[in-house]
Order: sequence, then structure tokens, then C-alpha cells
Amino acid sequence: QFLPASDSKHLEKKPGRRKKLWIGVGLVLAAAAVALLTGLLVWHFHCELISITFIHTGSVVRSGCLSLCSEGEGSSDGGSGSIVAYYQSEFDVPVPQQTSLDEAIESLDPPEGSQQGRHGRVMLRPTDALNVNSVISRGLRTFIFSERESFNIHVKEAGIVQSPGFPDSSYQPNVYLQWRLRADPRHRVRLDFHTLILEDDCQQDFIKIYDSLAPIENRALTELCGRKLKSTVITSLSNSMTIKFNSDSSYVDQGFTAEYEAFVPTNPCPGRFQCTNNLCINKTLQCDGWNDCGDGTDEDNCTCDASQMKCKNGRCKPKFWECDGADDCGDNTDEENCVKCKTGEFSCRNGRCVPEKLKCNGEDDCSDGSDESKCEKSLVLQQCSEFTFHCKSGRCISKLNPECDGEQDCEDGSDEDNCQCGSRPYRSSRIVGGQASREGEWPWQVSLHIKGTGHVCGASVLSRQWVLTAAHCLFEYQTNEWTMRKNIKRIIAHPDYNPLTYNNDIALMELDTEVTLNQNIWPICLPSPTYDFPAGQEAWITGWGATREGGVTATILQKAEVRIINSTVCKSLMNDEVSDRMLCAGVLKGGVDACQGDSGGPLSVTGPGGRVFLAGVVSWGDGCARRNKPGVYTRITKYRSWIKEMSGV
Ligand code: ARG
Repeated sequence: QFLPASDSKHLEKKPGRRKKLWIGVGLVLAAAAVALLTGLLVWHFHCELISITFIHTGSVVRSGCLSLCSEGEGSSDGGSGSIVAYYQSEFDVPVPQQTSLDEAIESLDPPEGSQQGRHGRVMLRPTDALNVNSVISRGLRTFIFSERESFNIHVKEAGIVQSPGFPDSSYQPNVYLQWRLRADPRHRVRLDFHTLILEDDCQQDFIKIYDSLAPIENRALTELCGRKLKSTVITSLSNSMTIKFNSDSSYVDQGFTAEYEAFVPTNPCPGRFQCTNNLCINKTLQCDGWNDCGDGTDEDNCTCDASQMKCKNGRCKPKFWECDGADDCGDNTDEENCVKCKTGEFSCRNGRCVPEKLKCNGEDDCSDGSDESKCEKSLVLQQCSEFTFHCKSGRCISKLNPECDGEQDCEDGSDEDNCQCGSRPYRSSRIVGGQASREGEWPWQVSLHIKGTGHVCGASVLSRQWVLTAAHCLFEYQTNEWTMRKNIKRIIAHPDYNPLTYNNDIALMELDTEVTLNQNIWPICLPSPTYDFPAGQEAWITGWGATREGGVTATILQKAEVRIINSTVCKSLMNDEVSDRMLCAGVLKGGVDACQGDSGGPLSVTGPGGRVFLAGVVSWGDGCARRNKPGVYTRITKYRSWIKEMSGV
């Protein structure tokens, strides 16, 4: 009996299916084997072939032989007759051998006090596990990072590192600089930033400081950017330090200057005073009334001498600073008990005492108007005085400095008339101790030029057609040819200008055509005769004058913050050569001032409404930026009516 045809098909199919199953199993096993092998290979290559580059820097000391120097491999440390050669080695080692390299590097460190590297070569003592793929060693002379310019300095004496062009010009965009400072063994390096003005964002321009000769992240000490005008002191923990300075392609600023020096940790300030912030200053600067350390520690625990007063906080200050309107002690004790009047009484300018509650009541109780001159409210007064603001109507009001403050104080609104001045319509992006200004920051600043000479003086824009400067700018440089310059129609120097005393050092200039006012040319506000610029108030000076006494003029307009100085104090500091028509401003500690070439330029003060007023015109000084020698300015309030009469402004 034959099986039916369908059955025979069935019988034929059975052996074929089993064979395919075996082939499938075989393929799966083969794929698994290949995957395993690949995994093993990847693991092998990852660990064995991927390597890390280690940078090792060090020095080799050798005495009595100069051959290293003549080969250009090292630098002589001078004097002692021995040679210190510095090197940097880059090791390429596979990842698993990192520990072995660390051990080998440690074998380089000699026991304390011994000398090492007798043959002037770096000798690694490799461990069995160490397989260094490649070593690149460089002597310092040839040590140049591919994209970074490097300066190598052996710190023997104090020196300066600064951004290129400082202080006369801004640093350039795309700067990559590096200073590598090395002190002798067992020394430390101290870096004191006198000025640091970079972009605010550390992502853009920055300084980074490392406690090593190579900029390795885990040896970074600090990163600096923005603006720091004092006492940033950085001290290394080893005898080396790297300073990296980067600027990006965008906006640049003035830059930085820093002083470096080496010291031994057991005696950080030989022969000098050590501030708490680690700065060293001359011992003579201790207890002299000035905060020379920056943290005030040179003025702590002092015994005051006969010429000084003792503040409650223990500091000593020169006696002539008492009752000068500025808080010199820091706790205001030099300004307490200044008034001869009893408590609850107001001390009038004429010396009289009136009950405190009569102050600012609208009536002249002092009989010189001074009790009604510094009020917050603007009461209309029965009588005007030399201290109160005169409205156009002829009536006077009691509010202090009411003009152009954005509030109408006079009944006739005249305190807010002619206030198209003193504001900075738009802001984008020589003075001693100043910083570079931004475009449009001081739109009233003028540079006066003599044909063929260039900048001679500063000046201020008063209106479309009038500019104000110092009279001595005309008399020192004036020539007939110049006075006839076609863009200046008329020069009106003050008729009582005295070239010997510099009294009335003021001049007006009328331009032959009106200038178009814009974001970069804008008038400054003129203060009324009764405007008050109290001692201690902050003010700004601007100019292209010399950036240090006897120095050259600046290329970028410089600005610096100073303070108004009490007239009595100033007179005594300047040998009584300061008249009542002059105003003193500066930083008595020294270091910030106007200088040659800034004359005629503005001393500007921001008023209560945010508008800028011309308090003074740069006139004279004793040198520039000297301690206890403030700058002397023409006091504009004394000339308000003369300016109006001559120019109509
Ligand atoms: N007379 C100088 C000039 O013609 C200005 C001096 C200002 N000096 C000073 N220390 N503030 O530019």
C-alpha cells in the first residue's frame, strides 16, 4: 500500500528543517564569539593604547660648571657659581600606568637639602610597570607653547608684569600670554595687583594664576577678571607661579599691572611691615594715617603722635582732618563733636547756634540763611541768602541743589529750565591713576589743539557754540595765528586771570559755527552760584594729559574718581596758595590726580537728579598725584554770572 501523495511530501520535508535549525544555531554562536572577541579587543585598546599626557616641570641644580649655560640649556642663577636648569617634560603613558608614573616622578624629588641631577639630566627611576610611550623634554629657552607667548622669569628681585601697552593703551583682542615665575628653592612668589581692569565676564577676558610652572587645572590658585583697583595679593604655595592672560576677540579694556617678588615663608617681609593681606609696605608708612595695606592693618594698634588725633576705632589720623566734612576714621569719630553748639542746636555758618527745630522752617533764623539752605523740602523763603537757590521770579527756595534734579521746586519752574545738559544720551562702549573711558561716556569733554602741535588742553562743551577752558591754556600756548583759527570765533579769557597765582583761571571760547549735539557731544550742566559741593563728595576728572608726573599724554581719554577736599585743609596743604575762587579735589593718599595736559578739562559731579555738573576746571597742582597734594580747580560757582554775561549760556 502506497502512502498518499500528500504524505510523501510531508515525509520529504522533515530532514531539511532539522538541518536549517543547526545552521541557525551555528550562526548565532559564531556571532556571539565575534562580539566577545571585539569587546576584548576594544577593552584592550582602550586601556593599553589610550594614553594621557602628563606635564612635569622641575629644576636641576649644578654647581661649579658652566657647560650647561654654554649649551643654552639652562640659566645661571648668578652669584653663587651654581647653575639652575629648568625643564619641562611631557610623558605619554597608557591610562593603567598612571600610578607607576607618579611613583617614578616621585623618585626625582631629592631628600631635603641634597642636590640632584649631577649630570644635568633628568633621571626617572622607572618602576617595572612603567611603559612610557614618548617623552618630550624641553629646556626653558626653547619652551614655547604653540599658540601662547611665554615669558620665563627667575624671580630674584621685585619686578612688574603688565598687559601690553599698559597704562597708555588698552590691551589687544585675542591675546594669549603667559608669565612663568620661578623663585629659588624654598621661596614663595607673591603677586600684588596694583590695577586690574578687564571685562567683567571671566569667560571673555581673564587672568588665571597657577601654583606651578605649567597651567594645570588642579594647581590653579585663582581666576581674575572685571575691575579691582587695590590689593589683590596672591601668594604661591611653592617656588613657582604661572600667570595666564587671555583676551577674546571682542571688547578690550585697560589691562593690568602687578608687582611680583620672592620671599622665604619664615621671613615674608624682610625689613618691612607685613599687612594681614600679605602685602609688605615700608615701615615708615605704618601709623601715618593712610591705609597703605588696603586692608587697614598698617593703621591698627598705633600710638598717635602729637600731630595726630585718635579715632574711636584705634586709628590715628592727621589732626587737620578733624571736622573737615569727610569720615576719615571710618567710624566718623573725626567728624563728631565738631560743632560748638549744644546738642539739639543747629550750628549756623556764621557761628551762631539756633534750636535744631527751627532748621528748614522757611524762616532765616541764623540771619545768614544757612539754616534754610540744606533742606529736603523746597519752601519759598521770605529772604534770599548767599546759600539759597534763586528762582527766576527773584524768590528763593530752601532746597539744597534743586536745579535740574527732575522736580519742579520754584513756583515758576525756573529750577528746571535749561536742563538740556549733563546727561549721557547714549553710552556704549591724562589723568594719573585713571582708567580708559568708554565712547560717549563724557560727551562734554573737549580736546583743544594748536595747529601743528596737537592736544594742549582739555575743555568742556557748554552749548552748541560755547566751550569753557582754563585761561592759562591760552596764555601759555596762544599765538595770533591760533586765536584766529577759523573754527574758534572768539576767546574770552577772564579779565582778572593772574598767571602768577592762577586766580580766575577760566576762559570761554565761541565756535564759529554751531556743533551738532549728538551722543558724543553734549553739554555739561553749570551749577548756580549757590550750588553746594560738600567736602568728601565724589567727583570725576577726565583728560588726555600725562598719566604720571613728567610722563607722556594718554591716547585714550582717561577718567579717575577723586573727592572734593575741605578748603581749610587744602589751604594748609598747599601753603595758603588756594583762594576762595578755587576748589580742591583729589585723593590725599596720592596716586590719583589730574596732570599736565588735563588743564581746562572738567571736574564733574553728579547731582541729585543724575545730571552731571561742572564743579571745577583743571587748573594747577604741586606735581601730580603726590601724597597730601590735591589738584586745584577753578571753582565754577564763582563764575556762573560771568559765564552768563559773556556767553548767554
Ligand atoms: N597746569 C596743568 C596743565 O596745564 C594741569 C595741572 C594739574 N595738576 C594737578 N596736579 N592736578 O595741564
